[in-house]
This record gives sequence, structure tokens and C-alpha cells, in this order.
Amino acid sequence: MFKFVGFLLLMIWSQAVCGDDVTDGTELVLSFLVHRHGDRTPMGSSLALSTDPVALEELSAPYGYGQLTLAGKKRAFELGKFIRSRYDELLSDNYNRSEVFIRSTDVTRAKMTILSALAAIYPPTGKNWNPDLAWEPVPYTTVPLKYDFNTASVNCPTYSTASTSLYLIPDPEYTAKYSDVLAALSNQLGFDISNLPVVVYALYDVYASQRSLGLPLTPELEAIFDDIEEAAGDSMDLSFGNEAYIPYQAGVLLDEFYTYANVAISGVNTPRLRIYSAHDFNVFSFEAVTKVNKQGAPRYASAYSLELRRVTATGKYVVLPVYLPSPGEDVVYLQVEGCDVLCDYDQFVALTEVNARDIDTWREECGFTEDLVADESSFE
Ligand SMILES: *[C@@H]1O[C@H](CO)[C@@H](O)[C@H](O)[C@H]1NC(C)=O
Repeated sequence: MFKFVGFLLLMIWSQAVCGDDVTDGTELVLSFLVHRHGDRTPMGSSLALSTDPVALEELSAPYGYGQLTLAGKKRAFELGKFIRSRYDELLSDNYNRSEVFIRSTDVTRAKMTILSALAAIYPPTGKNWNPDLAWEPVPYTTVPLKYDFNTASVNCPTYSTASTSLYLIPDPEYTAKYSDVLAALSNQLGFDISNLPVVVYALYDVYASQRSLGLPLTPELEAIFDDIEEAAGDSMDLSFGNEAYIPYQAGVLLDEFYTYANVAISGVNTPRLRIYSAHDFNVFSFEAVTKVNKQGAPRYASAYSLELRRVTATGKYVVLPVYLPSPGEDVVYLQVEGCDVLCDYDQFVALTEVNARDIDTWREECGFTEDLVADESSFE
């Protein structure tokens, strides 16, 4: 009996030590990672959707609306630990600009998130520039929202016009599937949202921020929070997962992946880790353009990366889509529709390029012009 248990333990141990069999026999060439910012206060415009707007207003006051909170910094730091541990082989102990490229949207919570994460990616090595400070400066780059291809709601009129009407389309299947959740939420709000799936996503967004700030929902809603989260994921899919519009949301990002994957494959030096600090919208639409099984509403500091790997035995390049639901949790390997989990690189491109856009085409299709007045209020 003890021998048998010992044998079992040995098997479990050796599996843990040898890592997962999916990546066995491959070497990491490039990782292209998009993540959501950490926990934040609610957006000012959505405060009224809270189950307790007065208390939530008070809790938000020290930060302002839409800002990274203390819990958000901590979660971002955990994201950094994940990035360091999974991509350690790509990074020196000290920052080297040839190894990593980092870009954030020009939104305070995304910028604070990447700064917090970088503190964990590059912990002090003992060769500190300031012995009193356990911190190394590491730069990231950003682009004004008006020009950022990751903020289509601000600078892609074709998309923003269409999305407003997408929000209002009722979906009978959704209404039937989530009738209990919709009834509970309608009851809380005092008006019927059975035919307004987009409101579920907006409510979930406020609820998640109030819970993170230590303010629970009503007992009725707490009891079904997992269902609300699931319904919010499907709500996002209706609003943000529409195939006609996903190229506007994340098509240029996908094109950048091809660009840098091709550079790496050609053997030319390029940073082998690319990080984009962004929003739930970006994580979700990057999943959508890469045609993987979408993982619902992205949580705070969740991450989605495309890993370009080389199969050691054959020299072939493959793409492995990796999802981190939340820092501290296990990653999930996703599968591109019509491909193996380790998806042959050329096949990956063939399957997804319908969604890719170079920046010029994107601007043209979006109807972007220099004199466009960028309304940034949705990010504040
Ligand atoms: C930084 O990384 C590049 C590329 O790997 C390498 O050639 C260079 O020597 C590194 N610089 C330092 C200071 O380690």
C-alpha cells in the first residue's frame, strides 16, 4: 500500500518537475502578451449601477474613478511574477532593451499596472543603483489614444458607430439562457434588462470593482456572482465578439504579431518578449481575432499571449495560445479553431489573417482622419 502511494507520488512529482507535455520538445522563440490592468475603482459614469453607490463613491474617493487601487497594484505585481517565471529564459536579470518591448495604452491604470508588474519582472539583483530602494527603473512606451490601434472605441468611427447599435440588439437565446440572472439583475435595478445583454457586462464591471474594494453585493447577487460573471462573458461576446468588427478592435495587434514573428523566424534580433498593457476589451478581442475558444470576461490583470515556439526535432515553428485567467492561477492552453494546440505557424497565419490589418488599411477602413476629435471619456 505505502509502496503504491509512494509510486503515485513519484509519478505526480515527476510530472510536475518535467513540466507540461504540450511544450515539451519545443523552445520558446517569442512571446507576444496582452494583459488587462489590475483592480480599479469604477468608472464615474457607471457608479449609479452599483448596489450601493454612496459607499462605493466613498471608497473610490482616495483614488478617483477608473484608477488602479492598492489591490490592483498587488495583482499587477503578481502578474509580473508570472511573466518573470514563464519567460525567464528570454530575460536577463537586469533590464536589457534588446530583450523586451513594452507598450501601454495612455491610460493611468494601464500605465500603473505595467510599472507594478515590472517591479516584479526586474527585482533588485544586488547591483542596485540605489541601495535604499528595491526598485529598478524600466521604461515602457505609449501612444496617445487618438493614434493607438488598441483603442478603437476612441479612434475608429466605423467601429464605434456600429458598436453602439450592436449593444442594443436583443438576443433571444441569451435572454433564455440567463433568465434567472437577468431576473435577479432586473430586480436589483428596478427595470427590465432581459433584452439588453450589454447591461449585464456593465453591471458585472461595476460589481467586480466594488467587490475588489471590499464592498459586497446584496446576498442575493453574491449567491449568483459566478453566474453573473458567465453571463457577462457572453454579453461581451455579443458586443465585442462580432466577426464583422473584430478586425477593427485587434486586427493591427495581430498584424504586429506576424511582423515580429517573421523577424524572429528570419533570425534577425528583435525583443523576444512583447508586452501590451491594456484593457479587458483588448484581451477579449485578441482572443477573438486569433479564433480561440474565448474565456469569458477578462478579469483584472488577466493575460493572453501567443507563444511562438520552435519544435526542436523538426525545426518547425508553431503558435501556442496561452491564457492566464488571473495571476496566481494556472495557465490554460487555448486552441485555434481548425488547428492543433501547437498550431503550425503558417497554418495559424492562414486561419487568422482574415482578421489582420496593417495600420494604413485599418485607418482607412476605420475612417480615421487627422482632424478626428478623440472622445476619451470612455477610458476615464
Ligand atoms: C543585451 O541583449 C543583447 C541581445 O541579446 C546582447 O547582445 C547584449 O550584449 C545585451 N547587453 C547587455 C548589457 O547585457
